[in-house]
Amino acid sequence: MRALRSVAVAISATLFLSVPVNAQAPSVERGKYVFDAGGCLGCHTDEKAGAAPLSGGPPLVTPFGTFFAPNITPDPEHGIGRWSADQFLTALKDGVSPSGKHYFPVFPYTAYTKASREDLLDLWAYLKTVPPSARPDRPHDVDFPVSIRLSVLPWKWLNFTKGEWQPDTRHDAAWNRGAYLVEALLHCGECHTPRNTMGGLDRSRWMAGARFGTGHLAPNLTPHAKGLKAWSAKDIAIALEIGETPDGEYLGNEMAEVVRDSTSHLTRADRDAISQYLVSLPPLE
Ligand code: HEC
Ligand code: HEC
Repeated sequence: MRALRSVAVAISATLFLSVPVNAQAPSVERGKYVFDAGGCLGCHTDEKAGAAPLSGGPPLVTPFGTFFAPNITPDPEHGIGRWSADQFLTALKDGVSPSGKHYFPVFPYTAYTKASREDLLDLWAYLKTVPPSARPDRPHDVDFPVSIRLSVLPWKWLNFTKGEWQPDTRHDAAWNRGAYLVEALLHCGECHTPRNTMGGLDRSRWMAGARFGTGHLAPNLTPHAKGLKAWSAKDIAIALEIGETPDGEYLGNEMAEVVRDSTSHLTRADRDAISQYLVSLPPLE
């Protein structure tokens, strides 16, 4: 019995070792899916100004000032055309630029750090296919001390945990997929979770609802009476697909954009996984 088992272990170890670490070549098609899920388009495209996709975003109003997401098209001068895949991974996983500057957390690398390397390499493959644009970046409009980029460092020490999202073995695969999408790619918590005085997410109030820069309320998404208690998992999935709530209203403001650019492009299985994850959260007032 014991001999048999060690043979089985030896065989599975060999099988495991024979799979190359980078089994799959990056795929543009999968990268487009990650791109939609990550909601990169909205922040990095100034639609109102008629600017080219990803050539730089509209004003992002926060309590710390107004930020403008830069040009991330493959233009060598004004975009990120000269970057290597590793530099791209460092930007999204560490929040650090190729020249070593620390990014402001309005760029939600606090979420993207949890994304898998495969997903980010697919995303990189897709970004390289976007038409380059030579639109210059707009400087952020922020006051002292935020205007000093190093002010990001203490923020990072307190509020940023680098590292890939780890599955929770107490839950099934669908729940884990939902949690991964919410935490790592779709960054729902960036809007729906209240912040501490330093502007970091308050994990003890995860998804309990928050008001942000523009003054709009991102409601409580936990299954509390003041949250989504009356919504079934199916109701949530429908809202993420077509933006319609159980009362027959349509989601507006920032959420309309999230549905349009992001959640409506997901597979049904992924929307169901997100809903399954949300209804399982502890109810918070
Ligand atoms: C909520 C808005 C927002 C979203 C969503 C967002 N970004 Fe950004 N991004 C920013 C801002 C703002 C900056 C500039 C940060 C700074 O100057 O410190 C930035 C910076 C970057 C940079 C650095 C560019 C440079 O020139 O240094 C890259 C690369 C980037 N974002 C890629 C992405 C990708 C890929 C996605 C989607 C997975 C994404 N961003 C989603 C707001 C956003
Ligand atoms: C950019 C900020 C932002 C992000 C990111 C975001 N939301 Fe929202 N969400 C909002 C706002 C604002 C509303 C309120 C919409 C309105 O005013 O009509 C909202 C409303 C909702 C509602 C309706 C709740 C109710 O009580 O009516 C659901 C469900 C929801 N969001 C789920 C999600 C999920 C799931 C994600 C991640 C996939 C997500 N949101 C990401 C800003 C955001």
